[in-house]
Amino acid sequence: MGKTIAITGGTSGLGLATVEHLANAGWNIVMLARSTAKIMEIKEVFPEVEIDFVRCDLADLSSVADAAEILNAMDEGIDVLMNNAGGINDHFSKTVDGYELTFQMNHLGHFLLTNLVIDKLRKQRSTRIINVSSALHKMGKLDFSDLMIEANYGPFKAYGNSKLCNVHFTQSLHDRYFDDGISAFSLHPGSVGTGFGDHSKGFFKLIWDLGKPLLLTPQKGAETQIYLATEEGIEGDSGKYFVKKKPVKMAKQAYDPEIRERLWKVSEEMVSAYLPAK
Ligand SMILES: NC(=O)c1ccc[n+]([C@@H]2O[C@H](COP(=O)([O-])OP(=O)(O)OC[C@H]3O[C@@H](n4cnc5c(N)ncnc54)[C@H](OP(=O)(O)O)[C@@H]3O)[C@@H](O)[C@H]2O)c1
Repeated sequence: MGKTIAITGGTSGLGLATVEHLANAGWNIVMLARSTAKIMEIKEVFPEVEIDFVRCDLADLSSVADAAEILNAMDEGIDVLMNNAGGINDHFSKTVDGYELTFQMNHLGHFLLTNLVIDKLRKQRSTRIINVSSALHKMGKLDFSDLMIEANYGPFKAYGNSKLCNVHFTQSLHDRYFDDGISAFSLHPGSVGTGFGDHSKGFFKLIWDLGKPLLLTPQKGAETQIYLATEEGIEGDSGKYFVKKKPVKMAKQAYDPEIRERLWKVSEEMVSAYLPAK
C-alpha cells in the first residue's frame, strides 16, 4: 500500500504536476478541488490514475469543513497534507465568510483545513504538512488593524501578505506539533508557467503572457514540493522554508514569534465557528 497525499490545488499547475509525479510513483492521491468540471476533465485526461476527489472551495469555510469531515472519515491515513492552492486577485473582494479573498484562499482556508484534520495526523505520527508559499512573502507586512487590506488594497500586497502567513503558519505548526510526529515545511517553487497569472488583467497580465514561455515548467517548478513530500530524513529541517530543495533564510519579518502567535490566534478566532469547542 503506497503513501497517501491530500492536496489542494491539484487541478492545475504545480499541484497537477505534483499529483502526476506522485501517482506515477505509486502514491494514493486525495485531491481537494472546488470545481467538479475540472475534476471530470482530469479523470478523462488521466483515466489510468486513481484519484479520490473531495470537493473543497477554500473561499467557503463551510466547504472546507465538509471536506475535512470526509478526510477524517477515511480509513486510510494521510502521510502528506499539501496546502498548495493559491492565487492572486486583481481586485478587492470578500468571500461568503466576509474575509478578503486572497487571504482566505491562500491562508485561512488552509488554516482551517489543517486544524480540522490535525488530530488524524497526530494519531498517525510521522506525517508532513507542506505549505506552498512564495518568495513574494518578502513583500508581506501584516497590519493587524487592517489584515484584510480594505483601506488600501493591492493585488501584490494581498498576495505577499498571504504568502507571509504561509511561512508563519508553517513555523507555528512546527512549534505546536513537531513533538507529535508532524513536520511542517514551506517553500518557494520558483517562477513557474502555470495558470497563476492567466486570470489577471492589465500590466501584470501583459508581463505574465510575454514572460510565461521563459518560466519554469510546472514539472520543474514542482520539484521542491515533491522533494519535501518524498525525501527521507528531512524532519530535522521542520519549520523551515525551502527553495530549490534547500532550506534558506526567510524574510526578516517571518521570524517574529509575536506576529506568528498573533496570526494564529486571529486566524483561530476567524474560523472558530468551525473548530471543535476547546
Ligand atoms: N506559478 C508561480 O510562479 C508561483 C510562484 C510562487 C508560488 N506559487 C504558488 O504555487 C501554488 C500553486 O499555484 P500555481 O502556480 O500552480 O497556479 P495555478 O495553476 O493557477 O493553480 C492554482 C490552483 O489553486 C486552486 N484554487 C484557486 N482558488 C481556489 C479555491 N477557492 N478553492 C480551492 N482551490 C482553489 C485552483 O483550482 P481551479 O483549477 O479550480 O482554478 C488551482 O488548482 C500557489 O499557492 C501559488 O501561490 C506559484
